[in-house]
Amino acid sequence: MTKPTPPNQTVHPPGIKIGANQLWGGRFAAGPAAIMERINASIGFDQKLAAQDIAGSKAHAAMLARQGIIATSDAESIIAGLDLILHEIANGVFPFQVALEDIHMNVEARLATLIGEPAKRLHTGRSRNDQVATDFKLWVRDALDRLDAGLKDLQAALIDQAERHTGTVMPGYTHLQPAQPVTFGHHLLAYVEMFGRDRSRAKDARTRLNECPLGSAALAGTPYPIDRDHTAAALGFDRPTANSLDAVSDRDFALEYLATAAIASVHLSRFAEEIVLWCSAQFRFIKLSDAFTSGSSIMPQKRNPDAAELVRAKSGRVIGSLTGLLIALKGLPLAYSKDMQEDKEPVFEADDTLALCLAATAGMVRDLIADPAAMRLAAERGFLTATDLADWLVRELGMPFREAHHVTGRLVKLAEDRGVGLADLDLASIQAVEQRITLGVKDVLGLEASVASRSSFGGTSPERVRAALSTARERFL
Ligand code: ARG
Repeated sequence: MTKPTPPNQTVHPPGIKIGANQLWGGRFAAGPAAIMERINASIGFDQKLAAQDIAGSKAHAAMLARQGIIATSDAESIIAGLDLILHEIANGVFPFQVALEDIHMNVEARLATLIGEPAKRLHTGRSRNDQVATDFKLWVRDALDRLDAGLKDLQAALIDQAERHTGTVMPGYTHLQPAQPVTFGHHLLAYVEMFGRDRSRAKDARTRLNECPLGSAALAGTPYPIDRDHTAAALGFDRPTANSLDAVSDRDFALEYLATAAIASVHLSRFAEEIVLWCSAQFRFIKLSDAFTSGSSIMPQKRNPDAAELVRAKSGRVIGSLTGLLIALKGLPLAYSKDMQEDKEPVFEADDTLALCLAATAGMVRDLIADPAAMRLAAERGFLTATDLADWLVRELGMPFREAHHVTGRLVKLAEDRGVGLADLDLASIQAVEQRITLGVKDVLGLEASVASRSSFGGTSPERVRAALSTARERFL
């Protein structure tokens, strides 16, 4: 990856006109006010699109020559010049200029300096409007692929950790109240499913994105005999876009990327919250590594889950990016409006944030050490097999479920009053509540028996979880 170079700011006193723009100087006698230059320029951030811009221009130049619109020799020197520019950018020596507004004009102006006359033919049959849409699509396509790879890596970490805990019993919660025993492996695999859906959203978005806007020109198409199929294929698109007005105004692909990113970041945030809970003194279900925690400057006993807390918080940025772009686009008429220049920073921001959060989460998952004894202890405390007891009454005594629920409730109250678990109640006390209950009930009151019984497809039994694990490896890794 190339490191963006800070553009050299051209500083003018406010209101003072500078020289007319070299690209539209024909119509403009004077240049912009300094403040206009600042609000208008995007080079500070869209230099991230340099590689895509150059790839798009190379494909365009080659197509123009192929169609006989420009001379082959001109296309060759354009392409050689663009390669040189790519090299300059990679080496951090490209002279970015704010006065040249954006990446497209910076590249084109530099090309003119490097190769002279032929550079002026590059912009035949295109506009910055189809150019920026093409560049940005290419960038977002890569971002979707990066997102997919990051999610896949996290899934791999979760699957490896789940593999170690197919039989580790923990409390499953609803309302954050202990509900029924589950296995830690099953719990981790729940997140593998979520991240799997995020990946499939990224894949869907990529398919819809993959139509090439290049050749739509400013908004109406172009009179030159261009070959849009050729440029589309050269840039790895499935086909050219079908409507020129739509092509230059469409930013759905950025919105879909951000929506996918926002949902993934919400999943990460929910998982981060569980990590924060699990490593608290109240739970002690897991221990995070030194590598992903920090100490307190005044309380020596502390080990804070900072990485998890930050992953939890940073989802706000990604959601904000989505909201910001939705609002920027709403109400825009066809076709291009400069508002659309505001599409890039939220996407760049989301890409950076999500990459960081995915890597930090995968790191935490790989390093974490679960404490099966602590999980078990917690599971023993919450009367988690009460549902199993009610089911036993239904199955063995033919009791209607509502009545079984009531009887079980009384037994839970009894155990609670005595400060013991359901399995610890003696038969005489149990029979005082419901005399038909036999010793056989004890078989279903244990935690292992409970999880083992939940063997329906998608259930938490260790046997099911082992099968789900091998399927997950096939589906996702
Ligand atoms: N920098 C612009 C953007 O990011 C490029 C397109 C400019 N087009 C125009 N008609 N001014 O949107």
